[in-house]
Amino acid sequence: MSPGAGRALGPLLLLLVLLQCAARRRVVKRSVPDVCATCHVHATCHQIEGKSVCICNYGFVGNGRTHCQDKDECQIGANKICGNHTLCHNTHGSFYCVCLDGFRASNNNKTFIPNDGTNCTDIDECEESGLCGHNAKCVNTEGSYKCYCNDGYKLENGERSFHPDGNTVSCRGVDCGVPPSVLNAHPASVSGTTYGSEVTYNCVHGYFMASGTQTAVCNAEGQWDGTDLVCKEIDCGKPLLIPRTEMTWDNSTTLRSRVYYQCKEGYYFNGGKNFSECTIDQSWENITFVCKGEELFSNLSIFNETCVKWERKTGRLGVQKTYTFHILGQRWDEKTFSEDVIFNITTNEDNPKVCLDLDSGSNYVVNITTISSANIPVSVAVAIQTKVKEPFNNVLIFNDTCLKWKRNVRGTDVGDRYSFHVQGQRWYQKEFFHEMIFDITTHKQAPEVCFDLQPGTNYSVNISMAALNFSLLVSMTTQITDPPFPDVEFVAVTGSAPLLRLRKAEDQNGPISFYQVIVLPLDLQSTFICDSFAAATFFSNATDVKGYVAAEFQAKDVADNMPISLGDRHYYGKFYNAPLKLGEEYCVFLRVISEWNKVRTQSCAIWAQIKNLAPTPQYMSAVGLGSVAAVCLILFLTFSAARSYLHNTVSSPPAALACEAVYLSATMDTAQLGITSSFLETENVSLL
Ligand SMILES: *[C@@H]1O[C@H](CO)[C@@H](O)[C@H](O)[C@H]1NC(C)=O
Ligand SMILES: *[C@@H]1O[C@H](CO)[C@@H](O)[C@H](O)[C@H]1NC(C)=O
Ligand SMILES: *[C@@H]1O[C@H](CO)[C@@H](O)[C@H](O)[C@H]1NC(C)=O
Ligand SMILES: *[C@@H]1O[C@H](CO)[C@@H](O)[C@H](O)[C@H]1NC(C)=O
Ligand SMILES: *[C@@H]1O[C@H](CO)[C@@H](O)[C@H](O)[C@H]1NC(C)=O
Ligand SMILES: *[C@@H]1O[C@H](CO)[C@@H](O)[C@H](O)[C@H]1NC(C)=O
Ligand SMILES: *[C@@H]1O[C@H](CO)[C@@H](O)[C@H](O)[C@H]1NC(C)=O
Ligand SMILES: *[C@@H]1O[C@H](CO)[C@@H](O)[C@H](O)[C@H]1NC(C)=O
Ligand SMILES: *[C@@H]1O[C@H](CO)[C@@H](O)[C@H](O)[C@H]1NC(C)=O
Ligand SMILES: *[C@@H]1O[C@H](CO)[C@@H](O)[C@H](O)[C@H]1NC(C)=O
Ligand SMILES: *[C@@H]1O[C@H](CO)[C@@H](O)[C@H](O)[C@H]1NC(C)=O
Ligand SMILES: *[C@@H]1O[C@H](CO)[C@@H](O)[C@H](O)[C@H]1NC(C)=O
Repeated sequence: MSPGAGRALGPLLLLLVLLQCAARRRVVKRSVPDVCATCHVHATCHQIEGKSVCICNYGFVGNGRTHCQDKDECQIGANKICGNHTLCHNTHGSFYCVCLDGFRASNNNKTFIPNDGTNCTDIDECEESGLCGHNAKCVNTEGSYKCYCNDGYKLENGERSFHPDGNTVSCRGVDCGVPPSVLNAHPASVSGTTYGSEVTYNCVHGYFMASGTQTAVCNAEGQWDGTDLVCKEIDCGKPLLIPRTEMTWDNSTTLRSRVYYQCKEGYYFNGGKNFSECTIDQSWENITFVCKGEELFSNLSIFNETCVKWERKTGRLGVQKTYTFHILGQRWDEKTFSEDVIFNITTNEDNPKVCLDLDSGSNYVVNITTISSANIPVSVAVAIQTKVKEPFNNVLIFNDTCLKWKRNVRGTDVGDRYSFHVQGQRWYQKEFFHEMIFDITTHKQAPEVCFDLQPGTNYSVNISMAALNFSLLVSMTTQITDPPFPDVEFVAVTGSAPLLRLRKAEDQNGPISFYQVIVLPLDLQSTFICDSFAAATFFSNATDVKGYVAAEFQAKDVADNMPISLGDRHYYGKFYNAPLKLGEEYCVFLRVISEWNKVRTQSCAIWAQIKNLAPTPQYMSAVGLGSVAAVCLILFLTFSAARSYLHNTVSSPPAALACEAVYLSATMDTAQLGITSSFLETENVSLL
């Protein structure tokens, strides 16, 4: 019995006790028989406060003596006495409880008396596996259970929940069947027809998805969910308007409809496609279709000073076009146009470039005219100013003293006036200064001018054109020519070495660098060539035959009228002034050498003749006069030649000597190449 049931019995027991007390008092008052012997068969005798009392046994109700009858506990109600989910069974003097189907007694017995707290709890039938079969799940209920088909499964009758009840029922997978058709769409992909399968719809060509979902799903009920796609036909509407075009269109606005564009009269196409299509995006495709007005001279510019270029932005590219150039030209120093040229140029280039043959230092107006497609002449004028950078160029020096150049300035009809300022200087002759200033005017395209320049001089020639404010500096260097003939006092001696006097030469044609005293056997005098005579020393192998340089003086070391003693056995420069041999006949030359700019020129003069060298000197002298070749034929004393001692005492017997005094000149001039035949052009002069 449950505690609740116990509490319900409390008042009942109290009632029984009170009834028994009342009965006993009545018995006591009447007689005093053995009470206990009178107890009912279903009663028990109890001693209470010293008195015997008969009390009906448990499960019986009555007075304990005459009356103890079975109490039907179950009458109270099974739920009340046995607890929930029970059946109550009354027995003679007692009762027991049984759990309803689907419940189990908590003491695991079939029957129970609720007084020990036993109750009936629900049995979880689902703990037993396989109760519902495949593809279904078991759900416990109070006192029972239910089976439910899994999602996507159903019974044959379409229900999902069932109780097996021993019948063989099974859950089968649902099948949504063929996907439903959607208007203007087609199933693009179907993953199946069972639960969870998907079908994707695409709009048919030319249609677009206006609303709804693209994918339908097979649901657990076996129906396709989401077949609400709405496909509508593509409509691009009105085509785009492109300025300056005319459309060719069939009014169709559906997919791939085309509209063609064409430039209006007077405009030229410039761009890509000439049509636009209605696209899947429900819009006409964007095209770069540009119609431009005729631009015959777009972006005209001057480059490289005399060239013009422009762009021809017309629809008819590649078509030949003729441009008429009208060029008016005017030199800077002119007031009016002096040049007027018209010519045509025909080209099919889109970016023509024309380089004009323009002179420098001029202003031009170039008017370019062409005929438009509308047969209207279109002109553009551009001013071109050429710089005076070079009114002339290609300046050339020729023949040492001449200049020629090329005029760049336009027009042979206009003469150009050039001013010359020529200044010459010599490094070796500080006081030297040569200046010339003059103007020339010429019409020639390639003028030439020769200057009267001094030799051995650095000249700067400033050529200027006052009209064009232009000047040019040219440097010219003239070669040195041969130095002047040495000014010598000719000496003819017999018997002794002469005392010679060296006169300083002027730096007239160039710097004088050296003076050389050359000693030569007299018989070689006629073969002496000033230029080719090597500067041999006395000790050179060939001395005996060809002569030698006896002394060399740097020009700066030479004092005027410097005495020179032939044969004094000193060294002058690297040359040895060897003593003359007795009895020999010599002739002596003075050579003046100019060395400048790596060019060496020289002049020679015969200075002395020595015959029959003897210890006692006797000489006659003659003075050379300028460039006049003087020849002397002098008879001297004859002397007997004694044996000579080498390099030593010279015995010079007196002798008669025929002397020829000759001024020799040797230069580079071609005219002088015939020197061997001409230099002894002699004149017999009687000296003294
Ligand atoms: C029996 O069930 C009722 C309602 O279902 C509940 O109120 C009562 O407490 C239960 N009694 C016992 C003893 O469990
Ligand atoms: C009921 O269960 C108890 C233990 O809970 C056991 O002692 C008793 O014998 C059982 N009664 C019957 C009738 O099986
Ligand atoms: C039923 O009995 C069990 C075991 O004695 C106990 O745990 C449970 O609480 C009882 N249930 C009720 C409703 O009294
Ligand atoms: C397009 O429509 C316009 C009026 O809507 C009509 O005048 C024209 O003839 C149509 N063009 C074609 C090619 O059908
Ligand atoms: C479009 O251009 C093509 C060639 O690019 C040409 O053949 C056709 O005639 C053009 N159509 C129109 C309408 O101008
Ligand atoms: C066409 O051009 C318009 C305006 O520039 C732009 O808004 C649109 O997105 C373009 N359409 C396409 C398909 O490129
Ligand atoms: C004009 O010419 C210049 C130089 O050639 C170029 O850089 C420029 O882009 C051109 N302008 C136009 C509008 O074509
Ligand atoms: C300008 O002239 C120079 C030399 O004649 C040439 O090399 C160069 O290419 C020219 N420039 C142009 C833009 O034609
Ligand atoms: C240049 O061409 C035009 C026609 O394009 C012609 O009339 C004119 O005589 C031509 N001029 C010269 C100088 O050739
Ligand atoms: C260019 O020449 C044309 C024809 O000779 C003439 O009509 C036009 O006025 C000239 N333009 C200029 C700017 O000189
Ligand atoms: C320059 O020299 C050459 C020969 O060397 C000669 O023919 C020509 O006339 C000379 N020119 C002048 C301008 O002296
Ligand atoms: C001079 O001559 C000798 C023999 O004749 C020779 O050996 C020597 O090299 C020559 N010396 C010079 C500088 O020519």
